[in-house]
Amino acid sequence: MTASHSDALVLFGATGDLAHKMIFPALYAMTEHGGLTAPVIGVALTKENPAGLRKLVTDSIKASGGIADKRALQHLLSHLTYVSGDYKDAGTFAAIKTALGTAKRPAFYLAIPPSLFGTVIEGLGQAKLAEHARVIVEKPFGRDLASAQELNRIARAAFPEDSIFRIDHYLGKEAIMNILYFRFANSYLEPIWNRNYVSNVQITLSEDFGVQDRGAFYETAGCLRDVIQNHLFQVVALLAMEAPATRDYGALNTEKAKVFQAMRPLKPNDLVRGQYAGYRKEPGVAKDSDVETFCALRLFIDSWRWQGVPWYLRSGKYLAATATEVIVELKPPPQRLFADSAPANGLGNYLRFRVSPNSAIALASRVKLAGKEFVGEQRELYLSDEQPGEQSPYERLLGDAMAGDGALFSREDAVEAAWAVVEPVLTKHHPVLPYKRLSWGPKEADSIIAPEGRWHNPTPHDAPG
Ligand code: BG6
Repeated sequence: MTASHSDALVLFGATGDLAHKMIFPALYAMTEHGGLTAPVIGVALTKENPAGLRKLVTDSIKASGGIADKRALQHLLSHLTYVSGDYKDAGTFAAIKTALGTAKRPAFYLAIPPSLFGTVIEGLGQAKLAEHARVIVEKPFGRDLASAQELNRIARAAFPEDSIFRIDHYLGKEAIMNILYFRFANSYLEPIWNRNYVSNVQITLSEDFGVQDRGAFYETAGCLRDVIQNHLFQVVALLAMEAPATRDYGALNTEKAKVFQAMRPLKPNDLVRGQYAGYRKEPGVAKDSDVETFCALRLFIDSWRWQGVPWYLRSGKYLAATATEVIVELKPPPQRLFADSAPANGLGNYLRFRVSPNSAIALASRVKLAGKEFVGEQRELYLSDEQPGEQSPYERLLGDAMAGDGALFSREDAVEAAWAVVEPVLTKHHPVLPYKRLSWGPKEADSIIAPEGRWHNPTPHDAPG
């Protein structure tokens, strides 16, 4: 642990869903790998005794894949304490101060509903707990431009910008980090990575399940806010940005912010919103809900590099497969020497970044088939594949935040610039169109991409295409 390393982790929302599904397993993995020695203080409204919290943590780790290292679990449990209380109550923050004991540089992790971020940050500031501390904030960071600005104002009143860690777990995925690495660790890509060679970029994040038990949350968000403005925009930024001067927080966010600033603000006709059959019957969902569970959109980045290149983004619940994939399609050869070198219906040469459920990078090129005729087919060269020992995004990001490394986190101007792109269509949009469960969304989504192309539907199981 270095001098600037956080010496305690305070987890707000310790009895919540995110803590159960993601954070406790990540803390266990960190302990197992030697990345967490600091005490952990769970905070929540629920009255719970320390033994109750230890049980919650143990159950969560069991559910996420089992306990391979009992010593790591014991270590984590013995460093765990619990504070229960209302976030509006100054007494809660006084109790946290007591629980922190001699810790001087705690990290406060806000795994709580966004509506409570402001209350907790203000509580930390008033209790003088923010000095020398870090705050880790879960997405969604705001629900529109004005609320993001307000949240940034509140956070900045208590913490300096380099102590605020805005988490987008997508940035902690190996496959996403590999996009950054792949782009800037190879020189052959640069000459073709622009409007002269790239015809379009498609990104699909599809899930074959619904909103599950998150209907009430989803009603306040919808697909555009839930995954497009953050996860998919971050992927766009990594693919579209100029080379950053260094690999640190400031340089990376400067380049990402420029991409968002160059994006054309969306108009209602740039997107198709859909809603899966039966969504309105989900618990917590309004009977007449117009919230989209599917969104397909066309985006333009008005920069020297990307002028005129369409970026197609699509995501949805209850689609035909669970997979996240990026296809960067290249323009066909200028001369049509072979009849099949510019397929009318198929994809041209492309680079494919597979993000989930497995990670991979593949490069597709045409090769001649044996025989008299000059006809061929497109085959994929697999450049990288899943590797053993990948950290979970939460293990990676929590470790980075506690070590003060902000490279994989978002800066306020980048977050606000991303909100500015979607702002015009958050309230002004066409009504949702119904779609069948386990389909690829409403057929109207094809109009986003036609007549030039078509959506490439990722397969649930990846194999060289
Ligand atoms: C979350 C969204 O941020 O990302 C979820 O709230 C979505 O609705 C999830 O399912 C997708 O992330 P992953 O890592 O499961 O692909």
